[in-house]
Amino acid sequence: MLKHVENPDRSAGTRWEAGRFDASSGPPQLLFGRMYEDSEIEATAFPRGSRIFAIASAGCTAIRLSVDHEVTAVDINPVQLAYAQRRARGAPRETGSAERMMRLGRNAFPLIGWTRQRFDKFFRMEDTGEQFRYWKDTLDTQRFRRAFDTATTQALLRLIYARSFLERMPRHIGPVLRARLERCWTLHPNATNPYARSLFLDSDDPLTDMPSEVARYAPIHFACADAATYLEGCTPGSFDAFTLSNIFDGATAAYRERLMLAMKHAAASGAIAVIRSFAEPDAELSQNYVSQDRSPLWGVVQVAEVESL
Ligand SMILES: C[S@@+](CC[C@H](N)C(=O)[O-])C[C@H]1O[C@@H](n2cnc3c(N)ncnc32)[C@H](O)[C@@H]1O
Repeated sequence: MLKHVENPDRSAGTRWEAGRFDASSGPPQLLFGRMYEDSEIEATAFPRGSRIFAIASAGCTAIRLSVDHEVTAVDINPVQLAYAQRRARGAPRETGSAERMMRLGRNAFPLIGWTRQRFDKFFRMEDTGEQFRYWKDTLDTQRFRRAFDTATTQALLRLIYARSFLERMPRHIGPVLRARLERCWTLHPNATNPYARSLFLDSDDPLTDMPSEVARYAPIHFACADAATYLEGCTPGSFDAFTLSNIFDGATAAYRERLMLAMKHAAASGAIAVIRSFAEPDAELSQNYVSQDRSPLWGVVQVAEVESL
């Protein structure tokens, strides 16, 4: 079932509304061919049989959770929503703008000495100590560090991303992301980590397949809508759990406040929310689950009762 929810204010107050990474005014695009969020965080946090509100994105989390829960998947980008819906019916993965940009970056791998053989060895490792040493000794070269930090300067990122996507990112994201990668190698065996592999290998590489991505029809309710508008229109107590991806990155402070209120309105008593961010954690954040997320991208993975937010 696909439902469209109109926003009477037209502008939602979030850059995601444009459906594009860049600042141009072209039509919305498929941004994500897969998700880079470890859905096992949600699978562990949400009690079985929960009524879940999920951001659809590429559909991976909604599909994974639909096994044990009743899922409503919402996306502001009609192209992304239609793709998630296709995937829930078993359609194969497609390449989005995110994967195309990563593919461009991968063209530089041979120049920094990163070869397929090295990745084959690294991404099959099961021992975190061994993979951390391999990273330090073989892959984390000075050439890599210099190239990565240069490619991720704000000046260069601004050529690709609209300014609002960069506002909550750490200013020098290169060293921050490299530290997040190291954290991942020390905690999660590569052999069972499709999220790490998906950042380094091409999207059609079989090593990037996710075991949880079983092609089956999942009874998910889909809606093309801005999350806040959708939730404001729901009956109070409609959802036991929320997985909001990192939609707050790229949104205005006013929109964030509105969405929090909308979530509280639609939440059942004791409802839980999972919220991710590229930002580094604030001092006030009492508990960060970022170490448990096998995707190395995140600075914050918040798992909290909606009432406490
Ligand atoms: C926040 S993005 C980030 C992608 C994500 N980190 C992943 O790994 O797939 C995920 C999706 O959220 C959608 N989105 C962003 N803000 C939204 C909003 N306010 N309401 C509904 N969907 C939104 C985007 O269109 C996009 O498809």
